[in-house]
Amino acid sequence: MDDTLMKRTIDYTWEQFEALPMEQKCACLAKPDGMPFCTLFAQQFDRARLDRLCALATQIRQIAKSRAGMEFLQGLLFHKRAMIYFTQPSSRTFLSFLSACQILGIKTGEVRDAAVSSEFKGESREDSIRTFSSYFDLIIMRTQEKGLAERMSWALASSDRPIPIINAGSGKDQHPTQALLDIYTLNRSFERRGGFCHRTVMYVGDLARGRTVRSLANLLLNYEDITHIFVAAEPLQIGQDILDMLDAHGARYIVTSDMHKYLPEADAVYMTRIQDEWDKSRGESARIDTSRFKIKGEDMRLMKPDAILMHPLPRRDEIAVECDSDPRAKYWRQMRNGMWIRTALIAATFDCDSRISNYFRDNF
Ligand code: NCD
Repeated sequence: MDDTLMKRTIDYTWEQFEALPMEQKCACLAKPDGMPFCTLFAQQFDRARLDRLCALATQIRQIAKSRAGMEFLQGLLFHKRAMIYFTQPSSRTFLSFLSACQILGIKTGEVRDAAVSSEFKGESREDSIRTFSSYFDLIIMRTQEKGLAERMSWALASSDRPIPIINAGSGKDQHPTQALLDIYTLNRSFERRGGFCHRTVMYVGDLARGRTVRSLANLLLNYEDITHIFVAAEPLQIGQDILDMLDAHGARYIVTSDMHKYLPEADAVYMTRIQDEWDKSRGESARIDTSRFKIKGEDMRLMKPDAILMHPLPRRDEIAVECDSDPRAKYWRQMRNGMWIRTALIAATFDCDSRISNYFRDNF
């Protein structure tokens, strides 16, 4: 490996670190076993790491079924504490990370509103994070601000408490752990049908401001021969940066506003809600005609019989409730998968993965 790749985060100033090519940033953020120390970007996961995490999640899921198994899991990180620092609204990501910590015996603290922390008194984000690192061994954070988790990881790396940070959603940019649970869901849904290579994914909705699609498109570069179909009203179409990334990897994609035309081709349909919290002016999103980007029971008839319907949730009306009873609707399972894959990620962050795999080998 190139010498420069071996340099660690602390060898750079923030400006130097921020300007590094993604590959070098990922190398700085990795543990010796290749798994992320800080999980900030989807690009930190290659196929081997994804397969390892998915396998670990499935082992944890099995082990957790029994009382003895739960006692084993809860002993693994009994000595650790995690701060869940979410200054943006969340139900699933917050609760699944909380559950993941509970499964591994980690005690948690939380700040869910900067107005009830010292940030309200004018404390900087840097000082807040530094404070959390004094009491906790892991910070799981969700913020409005793109790049904040990255800056905080860099800042903590040179402090006396360089603890890991997991990005649980950073602005409109990335949501790497959502992409992990999406990949885990795709893996589980297609594992008995030859896996998720040579497949077509259709993303629908607000692709301009939805971070989940951006991270998932990134992770899917690890799977051979995937076709990406981006379906949105023109103002909400996927960013050019994602298309450039797909081009750089020679991936096939279609950008369209015609959902019905392509629905029969998709193996996975990934719906998203309109992210109007990012509107620059009042009612901006409401003026865009999004009526063609919703799935009802009759639209599901156009889907392949073995395709799956996904959604990171929360949904509004982009998937009609009548679709929930269709066996192809996987969003509730997808949500629960989040708890298992996040448990696996935290276990791997703290190097407990081989203990879990050994326990699984000895008991199943
Ligand atoms: C997503 C998010 O926060 O980006 N939600 C989630 O984490 N499951 C999607 C959304 O809010 O629309």
